[in-house]
Amino acid sequence: MRAVVWHGRRDVRTETVPDPVIQESTDAIVRVTSTGLCGSDLHLYEVMAPFMTPGDILGHEPMGIVEAVGADVTHIAPGDRVVVPFNIACGHCYMCGQGLQSQCETTQVHEHGCGAALFGYTKLYGQVPGGQAELLRVPHADYGPIKVPHGPPDDRFLFLSDVLPTAWQAVQYAAVPKSGTLVVLGLGPIGDMCCRVAQQLGVERVIGIDLVEERLDRARARGIEVLDMSECDTDLDVINVIRSFTDGRGPDAVIDAVGMEAHGSPAAKAAHQMTTLLPDKVAEKLMVRAGVDRLAALHLAIDMVRRGGTISIVGVYGGMTDPMPMMTLFDKQVQIRMGQANVRRWSDDILPLLGDDDPLGLESFATHHTSLEGAGDAYSMFQKKLDGAVKVVFTPGAEQPAAGESATPTPLPG
Ligand SMILES: NC(=O)c1ccc[n+]([C@@H]2O[C@H](COP(=O)([O-])OP(=O)(O)OC[C@H]3O[C@@H](n4cnc5c(N)ncnc54)[C@H](O)[C@@H]3O)[C@@H](O)[C@H]2O)c1
Ligand SMILES: [Zn+2]
Ligand SMILES: [Zn+2]
Repeated sequence: MRAVVWHGRRDVRTETVPDPVIQESTDAIVRVTSTGLCGSDLHLYEVMAPFMTPGDILGHEPMGIVEAVGADVTHIAPGDRVVVPFNIACGHCYMCGQGLQSQCETTQVHEHGCGAALFGYTKLYGQVPGGQAELLRVPHADYGPIKVPHGPPDDRFLFLSDVLPTAWQAVQYAAVPKSGTLVVLGLGPIGDMCCRVAQQLGVERVIGIDLVEERLDRARARGIEVLDMSECDTDLDVINVIRSFTDGRGPDAVIDAVGMEAHGSPAAKAAHQMTTLLPDKVAEKLMVRAGVDRLAALHLAIDMVRRGGTISIVGVYGGMTDPMPMMTLFDKQVQIRMGQANVRRWSDDILPLLGDDDPLGLESFATHHTSLEGAGDAYSMFQKKLDGAVKVVFTPGAEQPAAGESATPTPLPG
């Protein structure tokens, strides 16, 4: 089969690899029809490289048609259309019982002290072959895959694998009080969806912040108030503008939907670049222990949120020992919640919003559809935020570009 394979920093290639097979009675094999490219993949493309191994298959946002199931998989059958959650969870352990599927005790990666295994996500998360491929082996398929109806386009359901439950959880964790104000930092696919979900759930005032024009435009077009932080000279200016909207207090809650790829911290950027020059063993230590996170967005969230407010961190952070402004957090009595989305915790709540009226605008959410063959270009385009790319969806099995034809992703009509 064809799959998107990691070879090194900023080096992903589409290659032929062996087809996956059923290994356990709880496995399924899914023929992937659509599979997303995520901001989390950008971490692997760049700063998380020390945890990757050349040959790893990327991707964790797949959906498709069930091709085969093991003997113990009964809720889905060959021919069913399914969305596959990005976390791999058993559904019956203590953590799954608490709705904390991203901490599943059956699939936790003890060797690295990490939570539930994830598709296509470094050795820290089990080095499970990912979903940017024609075929995917789904472990614990007796629980994970979500059956969806045939008929509507893939994009109606695809974002149930990650973007939707992630945004949903971020908004739930933000716990915005009635008549309150929510600021969403970052308007990539996750932040954009956080704004849509917050509106849908009745949050009175939602303000999105980013510095990329078309991302701001997308949110504005859906009635979200936006602030272009590139028009502010300093973070303090950003905070002052937001405070001026909120009686001088600051918002009740801030969602950090940026994570460690934040723009705006030159010193941390230098440290990151250092990791790209070091041998992997050393760079790995630097990432885990020395702490080279870019905390720009998180610091902004901490300074901006009102006293006693809530910060919901959905962006992924990697290092361990970055200095945190603990004094400010404590003094301001800030409440912080965070973590990988517990996909199956929220999927039943979200399913009613995937009907024909499409209230969240899912069918026009992706900006680019491309074949798997265009993956190298698509990663680069998404990282550099070129060509208006906000959400890229690969469509394995759709027509491949002819030999010699450019693999540059082009938006499909609609
Ligand atoms: N918790 C989870 O389960 C989960 C799931 C999916 C993605 N994520 C994480 O969410 C984050 C966002 O993902 P995405 O797909 O939207 O990625 P993305 O990289 O496309 O979006 C990040 C956005 O933040 C903006 N930005 C950068 N610095 C900023 C700053 N200082 N202030 C405000 N905005 C800033 C960028 O311009 C960009 O639009 C990533 O860290 C990703 O790993 C977490
Ligand atoms: Zn993702
Ligand atoms: Zn479990």
